Amino acid sequence: MVFLYVPGSSGKTFLINLILAKMRSKASIALTVASSSIAATLLEGGRTAHSAFKLPQSVNHADKAVCSIKRGTDTVKVLQECNVIIWDECTMSHKHAFEGLNKTLQNIRLNYYIFGSVTMVLSVVPRGTRADEVNASVKISFLWNNVHKIYLKRNMRVHLTGNSEPGELAKLLLKIGAGKIPIEPHSSNIVIPSMCGKLFSNVDELAEVVFPSLGENYRNSSWLSKRAILVPRNDVVNEIICKLL
Ligand SMILES: *[C@@H]1O[C@H](CO)[C@@H](O)[C@H](O)[C@H]1NC(C)=O
Ligand SMILES: *[C@@H]1O[C@H](CO)[C@@H](O)[C@H](O)[C@H]1NC(C)=O
Ligand SMILES: *[C@@H]1O[C@H](CO)[C@@H](O)[C@H](O)[C@H]1NC(C)=O
Repeated sequence: MVFLYVPGSSGKTFLINLILAKMRSKASIALTVASSSIAATLLEGGRTAHSAFKLPQSVNHADKAVCSIKRGTDTVKVLQECNVIIWDECTMSHKHAFEGLNKTLQNIRLNYYIFGSVTMVLSVVPRGTRADEVNASVKISFLWNNVHKIYLKRNMRVHLTGNSEPGELAKLLLKIGAGKIPIEPHSSNIVIPSMCGKLFSNVDELAEVVFPSLGENYRNSSWLSKRAILVPRNDVVNEIICKLL
C-alpha cells in the first residue's frame, strides 16, 4: 500500500495515468477508482469506488462494511486478477470502505496478506479537515501502519511554464498541506498571509471595494457583470447577499 501526498499542480493525474499506461502495456490489470465521480473522470477508465467495489452507501454507519460482490461475476474475476488498485482522493472515503475492501480482496483471492496482495496506490490532495473527517479517514485506520508514503513536491505548473509568479503561492500551499501554518486554537482556521492578495477584515469592506456605490450602479448590468465575489460556502454567500441587498 502506497500513499501519494499531492499538493495542487504537482502532476498527480499525469503520474497516475502513466502508472496505468505502464501496467496495462504489460497486460497487467490496473483498476482506478476515485471517491468522487468528478475525480474519477480524470483517470483513464476511472470509476467511483462505491460503484467499482459495490460498497454499501452507508459505510460510515456499518461497523464492519463488506463489499456486496456476488461470486461468479465479472467484478470478482477482475478483482481476483488485478495487480494494482489506484484510489484517488482517498481521504474523502471512510476508512471502513478500505477495511471492507481489504476483507473482500482477502476472501475472493484466498490470499491473507493485506488487500490480498494487490498493490494499493492511495492518493490525496491535502486539505484541512475537521476532527470527525480526520477520524473517519484511512490515515487513522489500522491499515495505515502498512503504508509506504511518497511525496510529490515540485509544482509542475511552475516548473514547465517557467513562470515563477505562482511559485510563492505554491510554496504556501505546500506549507498548508504539511501543516506548517499555525492554526488558531479554537476554530482550527489558519490566517492567510497577505501575499495571497488584499485581505479585508470584514465583509462590508470587501463589498465596498468590489461593488463601490452599489446604490447608484445596481441597475447597470454591464457594470454588474464585471464583478463577483466567490465564496466557498453557502452560509457566507447568504450573509454577503443580505448585506448587498
Ligand atoms: C486487513 O488487513 C490487516 C493488515 O493490516 C489484517 O491484519 C487484517 O486481518 C485484514 N483483514 C480483515 C478482515 O480485517
Ligand atoms: C472515531 O471513530 C471511532 C469509530 O470508528 C469512534 O469510536 C470514536 O469515538 C471516534 N473518535 C472521535 C474523537 O470522534
Ligand atoms: C454602466 O457601467 C459601465 C462600466 O461598467 C459604464 O461605462 C457606463 O457608463 C455605465 N452606464 C450608466 C448608465 O451609468
